[in-house]
Amino acid sequence: MNRRTVLTGVGAIAVLGAAGFGQRRWAESRYADAAASARLPMDLAAAGPARMAELVRMATLAPNSHNTQGWSFAALPDGMRIAVDPARRTPVVDPDDHHLFVSLGAAVETLIIAATAYGITASPQVAADGTVTLTYADGAAASPLLAAITRRQSHRGLYDGAPLTEADRMALTADPGLRLIEDAPTRAALRDLTVAAYGAQMADAAYRAELKSWLRFSQGAALETHDGLYSGCSGSPALPQMLGEGLFEVLVTAKGQAAALAAQIDSAPALALLVTDPDTPAGRIETGRRLARIGLAATGQGLAMAHVNPGLENAAGRLEVARLLGVTSGRPSILLRLGRAAEVMPYSLRRPPAQTLLT
Ligand SMILES: Cc1cc2nc3c(=O)[nH]c(=O)nc-3n(C[C@H](O)[C@H](O)[C@H](O)COP(=O)(O)O)c2cc1C
Repeated sequence: MNRRTVLTGVGAIAVLGAAGFGQRRWAESRYADAAASARLPMDLAAAGPARMAELVRMATLAPNSHNTQGWSFAALPDGMRIAVDPARRTPVVDPDDHHLFVSLGAAVETLIIAATAYGITASPQVAADGTVTLTYADGAAASPLLAAITRRQSHRGLYDGAPLTEADRMALTADPGLRLIEDAPTRAALRDLTVAAYGAQMADAAYRAELKSWLRFSQGAALETHDGLYSGCSGSPALPQMLGEGLFEVLVTAKGQAAALAAQIDSAPALALLVTDPDTPAGRIETGRRLARIGLAATGQGLAMAHVNPGLENAAGRLEVARLLGVTSGRPSILLRLGRAAEVMPYSLRRPPAQTLLT
């Protein structure tokens, strides 16, 4: 190989490297734009169908299991109908659709709060199958939770461990259904139970396959569907999708994941439990509504929040949590960790309203 071919080779590598870097930066900025445009401030001048679309855009910013966005919206003359989208079920982790209906409830409540920006009171009626009809009436005061809708996110990083303040406790327990757990022994017991359940899930081929189908390892893959769990939102580096899927099989072990989850739970000064009672579609939707309010209240307080639900995703775990916390009625439904986090995490994506708003 002469000097000229070496230089040509080095030049080619430099060009390819720069192209790869450029492509990565381009994907990063397209991802950031998409996340930001889903969270633009509400257009308060919007009317008619544009207003409906704004309300759907806000509603879909709600927390939802695996970010499957398993909902659909239909505009009514003076309201909105919201139903689950069965095509977006996750039958392995959520065989009885509990999470699906909780997610729907979170979207319903977020829409109700968003509607107050237009002075609208949206009153929900839940059918036996869990379809929700919202009826609009004029005359609502803007909700104090409104401003947090576009800022709330699930923060899966480490928290700083500092105890909640009295103001945090008051804001969170404004919802009487929330059980705050701050004492160390109970948090440790819940951690052990959660970590064991997560280890078992990650050792289960069906669970892994379902999870993998919702993992988006690169910004590009996330942008193709605008749903699912983008690895950056869990603090992991972006990778080409196929490489990520391959490494997931080899490097993402039950043991490693369980240890990471234990550290995350230990970094949080508080856990919080929501109980669904009765455990019906309507009861689950009610839980989702409370979950949405709590997420927004936490965001308003500058608190980070993430779900740590694996222990509640099997019947034995739910029984154990009920025993530990003295829950005598209903289903232990949602377990959260709360605290303050310095790390800035990317926001997750949402499908645009045109994809979920049926006309
Ligand atoms: C019912 C339900 C269960 C969830 N379970 C988990 C969980 O166990 N672990 C987790 O990291 N996130 C969990 N999440 C959070 C979602 O993954 C998250 O809301 C979704 O990816 C959208 O991201 P965002 O909350 O940042 O908008 C859950 C959310 C809901 C509504």
